[in-house]
Amino acid sequence: MRRLLAITALTALVCSASPAFAWDAARGKQISESCAACHGPDGKSPSPEFPHLAGQHEKYLYRAMLDYKLGNRQNPIMAAMVANLSRADMRDLAAFYASQEGLYLKR
Ligand code: HEC
Repeated sequence: MRRLLAITALTALVCSASPAFAWDAARGKQISESCAACHGPDGKSPSPEFPHLAGQHEKYLYRAMLDYKLGNRQNPIMAAMVANLSRADMRDLAAFYASQEGLYLKR
């Protein structure tokens, strides 16, 4: 029992002490202000020139940002937008947009 308690306590400690591994949508929202002009405040783009981000899969969104950063996907606007973002920033942004309601067709 003691051992179980120790393991539980340790697990809780490790999980709370490593926020870098979490995909933090609340923090993503905070740093999404510079994206809102084109992609909308909640990721629903006001113009067909800019893709909707709301409700897309978070790993897809993260990968897209990473690819702009690495040059695998080329777009001068987005390359500039992600240039100063860390991987944690991109994960949190992805989590925020993925948590917004998407534009699925209503049946
Ligand atoms: C000045 C306008 C503009 C701003 C500001 C902007 N974007 Fe974009 N974004 C675009 C355009 C245009 C594309 C489509 C580029 C392409 O064809 O690859 C795009 C594409 C994307 C994609 C890929 C979407 C998909 O469906 O593949 C992601 C993810 C993204 N932007 C995230 C962001 C984030 C996060 C920010 C803020 C840090 C941001 N963008 C700021 C114009 C903008």
